[in-house]
Amino acid sequence: MKLKFNHVDFYYGDKAPNLFEALNDIDCEIKEKSFTCIVGHTGCGKSTFIQQLNGLLIPTKGSVFAGDFVVSSNKKERTKKLRPLRQKVGIVFQFSEYQLFENSVEEDVAFGPTNFGVKKEDALKLAHENLLKVGIDESFFKKSPFELSGGERRRVAIAGIMAMQPEVIVLDEPTVGLDPRGVKEMMTLFKELHDNGTTIIVVTHDMNLVYGYATDVIVMDHGKIVYQGTPNELFDKSVDEYSLETPLMTHLIQELKQKGYKFDLQQIKSLDDIVDVIAKQKGGAKNE
Ligand SMILES: Nc1ncnc2c1ncn2[C@@H]1O[C@H](COP(=O)(O)OP(=O)(O)OP(=O)(O)O)[C@@H](O)[C@H]1O
Ligand SMILES: [Mg+2]
Repeated sequence: MKLKFNHVDFYYGDKAPNLFEALNDIDCEIKEKSFTCIVGHTGCGKSTFIQQLNGLLIPTKGSVFAGDFVVSSNKKERTKKLRPLRQKVGIVFQFSEYQLFENSVEEDVAFGPTNFGVKKEDALKLAHENLLKVGIDESFFKKSPFELSGGERRRVAIAGIMAMQPEVIVLDEPTVGLDPRGVKEMMTLFKELHDNGTTIIVVTHDMNLVYGYATDVIVMDHGKIVYQGTPNELFDKSVDEYSLETPLMTHLIQELKQKGYKFDLQQIKSLDDIVDVIAKQKGGAKNE
């Protein structure tokens, strides 16, 4: 599903002097089947931006196009029923672990599909399948969500969105507070979903994750998009311009370049890829 913002402004509050402009002239496209990361400093508008994607927030000016759906400031242009859009574009909120409310883990995950018309029995089947995918085993299915740890609850919330089988999954800071293994497992899960054709949009402050997983990146600042392109272009040239952290991989590559190694950045995603380059070029680099 193609996602397109057409000159979107968004204001919180309904009248002056309480108006706050959180998005300013957002005009961009998020490619179908991309793995897009959205970065930028606290308060720059990332969470506000993603909530326009399925009509949870409606632009104050301009329009968002999501496939055939139109979420526009102009009521006449807006798609009348936005509910089906929320099945196609699923959002896992920041602090999603606080948003579970059903009596049991399985019922919580089954809630979404049931709400969109799937029979209870099939919804429970979807719940079980997706809970297993996020690493929550059978012994948890009948527990109350409140008996789970924060990290486990966040997995349940993610399974709840996956169970609706959306075309686009948006995750707002999904790895915050997880241990390194949890981060790796979660990112691997998103990568698998992406490999299977789901468009993935992740809001994050972690540039190492952007380096390792994103195909595209959007940088926001004070409600505007200040950069959109590939992570390689961003990290190679412009991290300082946007005061972002340089990923460890970029540091390492820059050091090795100074020692004479040559890199095709498209091919380098992990430390193993760097080791391969060093092994292949060892003789050449030493001589320079
Ligand atoms: N309900 C609201 N009412 C008024 N202002 C709000 C509301 N929600 C957010 N804002 C303001 O809008 C701006 C953008 O907020 P948003 O939550 O989108 O930022 P963010 O980039 O997601 O930040 P973070 O990285 O801290 O999650 C902030 O300045 C915030 O104070
Ligand atoms: Mg936010």
